[in-house]
Amino acid sequence: MVRAAAVAAPALQLLLVLCAAAAAWAADDNAGLTKFKVYFHDVFGGPNPTAIRVAQAASTNGSSTSFGAVVAIDDPLTSEAASGSAEVGRAQGSYTFADQKTLGLLMNMNFVFTAGEHNGSSLAIMGRNEVLSSVREMGIVGGTGKFRMAKGYVEARTVDSGAKSGETIVEYTLFVKA
Ligand SMILES: *[C@@H]1O[C@H](CO)[C@@H](O)[C@H](O)[C@H]1NC(C)=O
Ligand SMILES: *[C@@H]1O[C@H](CO)[C@@H](O)[C@H](O)[C@H]1NC(C)=O
Repeated sequence: MVRAAAVAAPALQLLLVLCAAAAAWAADDNAGLTKFKVYFHDVFGGPNPTAIRVAQAASTNGSSTSFGAVVAIDDPLTSEAASGSAEVGRAQGSYTFADQKTLGLLMNMNFVFTAGEHNGSSLAIMGRNEVLSSVREMGIVGGTGKFRMAKGYVEARTVDSGAKSGETIVEYTLFVKA
């Protein structure tokens, strides 16, 4: 018994140290993770569009996926989903219809915050947006202000396709580490 205890004590100690290290590592993994939501309003119809097609190929009209079209955006970002709700920033950049087989966009944009708790900061987002999927994940590749050195990802979910209104509304949940 005495010998067993003498052997067990260092092993137990090692185990405790390893557990503590694992716990610290797990905690560190989530350190500085900020999660929040914004709503993206892509107004492509009506008198005041915020998304305009700036380029396409001769073959784009014949493509069922609009392959080759490029759209420039300066889209409102709001904290509530409803059209016209208070703005917290703008999504500025472009999306390219980048897939010949399915409706797949390459999003290349900055979320520029102009009000609320992130006012003055921005996030650079780039990724594949297969718009007919229920959830699309895209990367956060950088940022400025409080988001300097940011990395993370977003989850995009369509709230309204805009087929009737000419305004697509998408919920973006952002997971950011900066
Ligand atoms: C493609 O379609 C649009 C809208 O119908 C039209 O304005 C444009 O001229 C067409 N482009 C080509 C290259 O056919
Ligand atoms: C956002 O920040 C700018 C610069 O500090 C400031 O001028 C502006 O009033 C702020 N806007 C809001 C809505 O807080």
